[in-house]
Amino acid sequence: MKALILSGGKGTRLRPITHTSAKQLVPVANKPILFFAIEAIREAGITDIGIIVGDTAREIEAAVGDGADLGVNATYIHQAAPLGLAHAVKIAQDFIGADSFVMFLGDNFIKDGISPLVREFEEERPNSQILLARVPNPSDFGVAEIKGGKVIGLEEKPKRPKSDYALVGVYMFDSTIFEAVHAIQPSSRGELEITDAIQWLIRNGKEVTSHIIKGWWKDTGKLEDLLEANRVALSGVERDVRGSTLGGTRVIGDVVVAEGAVIENSELRGPLVIGEGTVVRDSYIGPFTSISSGCEILGAEIEFSIILENSRIESIGGRMEGSLVGKNVRITRSPAKPRAFRFMVGDSSEIQVPE
Ligand code: G1P
Repeated sequence: MKALILSGGKGTRLRPITHTSAKQLVPVANKPILFFAIEAIREAGITDIGIIVGDTAREIEAAVGDGADLGVNATYIHQAAPLGLAHAVKIAQDFIGADSFVMFLGDNFIKDGISPLVREFEEERPNSQILLARVPNPSDFGVAEIKGGKVIGLEEKPKRPKSDYALVGVYMFDSTIFEAVHAIQPSSRGELEITDAIQWLIRNGKEVTSHIIKGWWKDTGKLEDLLEANRVALSGVERDVRGSTLGGTRVIGDVVVAEGAVIENSELRGPLVIGEGTVVRDSYIGPFTSISSGCEILGAEIEFSIILENSRIESIGGRMEGSLVGKNVRITRSPAKPRAFRFMVGDSSEIQVPE
């Protein structure tokens, strides 16, 4: 089997972070989400991975390279415009050839991986196996209509969903999917929808099996879902303190402090991770926080947040939580008069101050 990871898309719901960075490379527990997908695929025994890239191709290619560091063999397939998931399958036909494949949306995060699901697909050999998960907001997803335990129809982001079973962004196909993607027409949003292609398989009497996943899954396209993925990824870390912890520091629970980081006179309450060379001084870092490398956290309190590389947070005089801070950001206290909030904030940023 081969794998196809979709890593194009604009990530509009994660702006401004995605003005400068691919959404699939935003880290959870200090590791790009995309790497979790690659590892899940490799653990399922698949090493030939085609990666569909768009506007952020350069960045994705720089991060993954030829895949060797991650134990896989990566081939890049360029999608000139975001014309839909089924369009991505269409342009991957030469790469896939006559093989079966698993298609994985690069911003999806499945905690328990996909190994048993791939095995089930290989044993049962249906034309397609889809994964479903119950969600409170089915209208934001592809939705399955189920009768007698069988999927009888699929609709992409329906206004009136026929169930609360969403299509998870991991699909398994044999080569009949290529007939489907050539047969369907673009949807009202102008995209070739994979949901319509699978619906085509069902309508044409092909075998589509479904598997309801009970484990944890998230499409990390929005801030709250990304923070949730970070929480879940951190729930699995084990204490590993390599950096130096100096005078007055208390380390509680599963805390990872990378090489070269310096923690001084601070409280770290895990699970949390702190990247290489980051300095934390006179601060409190609470559960479910990921701080990337090269940051400076001075006289601050941070919880349930993700801070990207080389940012500095200093003496902000309150606790920061539920936040995503990009690279090279400065959040500091200023003695300048008049006393005021002063911002230089990029397009589509969001700032909330307490009441
Ligand atoms: C895509 C699919 C949708 C699926 C979802 C899972 O939506 O079109 O059917 O349920 O991924 O993450 P998107 O996130 O691209 O809007």
